[in-house]
Amino acid sequence: MLILGIDTSCDDTSASVVEDGKKILSNVVSSQESIHRKYGGIVPELASRRHIETIWPVVDEALRSAQTRLETLAAVAVCYGPGLIGSLLVGCSFAKSLCFSRGIPLVAVNHLEGHIFSSFLEEGGPLADRGGAPEFPFISLIVSGGHTSLYRVDGFGRYTELGRTRDDAAGEAYDKVSKLLGLGYPGGPPIDRLAHEGNPAAVDFPRAYLPEGLDFSFSGLKTAVLNFLRTTTGEKAKAPAASHFELRTLNIELIRDICASFQQAVVDVLVRKTAWAAEREKVNKITVSGGVGANTALGRALALMAKKNGLQLFIPPASLCTDNAAMIAAAGHRHFIACDIAAMNLNPVAYLPL
Ligand code: KG4
Ligand code: ZN
Repeated sequence: MLILGIDTSCDDTSASVVEDGKKILSNVVSSQESIHRKYGGIVPELASRRHIETIWPVVDEALRSAQTRLETLAAVAVCYGPGLIGSLLVGCSFAKSLCFSRGIPLVAVNHLEGHIFSSFLEEGGPLADRGGAPEFPFISLIVSGGHTSLYRVDGFGRYTELGRTRDDAAGEAYDKVSKLLGLGYPGGPPIDRLAHEGNPAAVDFPRAYLPEGLDFSFSGLKTAVLNFLRTTTGEKAKAPAASHFELRTLNIELIRDICASFQQAVVDVLVRKTAWAAEREKVNKITVSGGVGANTALGRALALMAKKNGLQLFIPPASLCTDNAAMIAAAGHRHFIACDIAAMNLNPVAYLPL
């Protein structure tokens, strides 16, 4: 059974053909990084305009490289939220038109549900090579540019939110710190890279553990980096995250140390909270998804924690952690076999709880 997945929730246009909810036949992602880079973050209007330009070629390429045609699809699964409303509108309108004109069933998928089901996808080899698919129940850490949340997943459609960020998402903190350091957008990959050669104990940045629950907070950490830069450089600060420092007084060693220390603070909080969630819920499986899930230090620290606590850890390859349409098709497959078909008046929703 072939499902065409479509995701235009943020700044990537993606289409994918997935067989039986797990085998990826194609997964095309058209990145808009080069458009948004000079602004240090996503400009929503530019994102939606670019989606309009790329949606058809991206879907076409996904069908072509999967060597399939519209006639062979069982359904089209589209992400209808949460996300940027203008961006979501492009994917939803496109999917509805395609389904209406060709008589194909339409399935609506929550973006976060897609992230959860990315752990069920095969990539570059059988799922067994990654420890197989996670069995329910499991704890799902979704950590991206727009979300940082912990869910308990008891089955398809059975999701309980355990905690979420009260302010910035972890990826947002990466992007803002990267902007301050003049490292560009998106911030995760360059900080991840530079952190490798830095000292994670060089600067004692704060960790907001909020011990009363499983919520997160990362805006204080971002401000701590800003204040550290103000003090160290002696530069008059521009508004937080408005523009980067001149950094005339910072050498590359110090930048590496700041990256490593910032990253360690993020990783410490994510790992400890995930461990608390597993302990509190008495669940011994953890899945990770979202762009920050591709972070090498986070992966290592989670693996150590899982080993120490006797937990099974499932982290999909980086290409499935970051936004992609294969995960939408994987979750869409579950909706389709549950006969959960969307109506043609489906509308995208910017703030859509799971
Ligand atoms: O899941 P995603 O592709 O899109 C959203 O739904 O937000 O995540 C993008 C976020 C960005 O904030 C980016 O800086 C971050 O994921 N990211 C990383 C890494 N790769 C991407 N953060 C830390 N380390 C990485 N290696
Ligand atoms: Zn995402």
